[in-house]
Amino acid sequence: MGAKMTDDLSSRLTALLAEFPRPLREIPLADFPELTGYTRVDVHDGLQGQGGLFLASDMAKRLTLSAGMKVLDLACGRGSTSVFLARKYGVHVYAVDEAPADTLLDRATAAGVAELITSVRADCRHLPFAKEEFDAVFCMNSLFYFGTDDLYPPYVLEFLKPGGDLVAGSPCYREELTADTPEEFLLEFPACLAVHSPGWWKTHFEKSQRAVVLHSELHPRGVEFWEDRVRFLLDAQKIGEMSEGRRQMLHDMVRMLGQDHDGFVSHFVLHLRKNKPSSEGSAAPERAAAPG
Ligand SMILES: C[S@@+](CC[C@H](N)C(=O)[O-])C[C@H]1O[C@@H](n2cnc3c(N)ncnc32)[C@H](O)[C@@H]1O
Repeated sequence: MGAKMTDDLSSRLTALLAEFPRPLREIPLADFPELTGYTRVDVHDGLQGQGGLFLASDMAKRLTLSAGMKVLDLACGRGSTSVFLARKYGVHVYAVDEAPADTLLDRATAAGVAELITSVRADCRHLPFAKEEFDAVFCMNSLFYFGTDDLYPPYVLEFLKPGGDLVAGSPCYREELTADTPEEFLLEFPACLAVHSPGWWKTHFEKSQRAVVLHSELHPRGVEFWEDRVRFLLDAQKIGEMSEGRRQMLHDMVRMLGQDHDGFVSHFVLHLRKNKPSSEGSAAPERAAAPG
């Protein structure tokens, strides 16, 4: 019974790939000169989402990072972005996730940046840091899991120094979901209900009046990130050798991308700068209340 279901899923995935309406695009490494020295495996290794270090490097370029700065990597997963930031910019990264980052220390050591990474197991809604501790906040493929509460923008901004930058990048919908959105687009349901459009994220942070949103737009390669990830996973392993979970995920992604003819499912980048207090400004509360 189990083997039959696996065969069915493999054949359905194979059929979807055969019927795919256009070639799945692979992003050339040469398009990202800042990733010189990285391989295609490095770009995707340990990343739990699309975009890999392509998205991470474009996000990081928005932050004016220099050696010695303290950066908060919110919901870092396995910490590949934390290692990337430490290696490329010499910043000290606090790599936070609610799940244990089992391989992070080994990978940080292999990259020669173990002393620049502090792994912290915590809920991003209950961060164990002091006010204004960080020069920058970085959050990739994660903000929608915990950051949609109206109280989250003022909460997370408390940890940023005045004038410091936050950059977030992740999958998004070009416009908000509606009751008529085809079911194929509701990937990872119900988490996808918290996946929003760039305009939604802009307003979400702007209305806190604690930061200026400098950019909140679809990434120009936002659709390609999905296709590139599919290509990478297919190149890395034969369909028949994949775990059931991986096969299902790829099946759902390919089905979604095949239905999407005009870039409804993409990626976005949000970049904002925390306000500096005005000289006569009102005092901020000592500690933001945790949302959720
Ligand atoms: C899709 S993964 C992305 C991880 C990583 N940033 C990347 O791009 O590979 C989402 C991560 O968010 C983490 N996460 C979700 N909700 C969280 C929360 N409330 N606090 C801390 N981490 C959370 C999960 O444990 C997971 O590692």
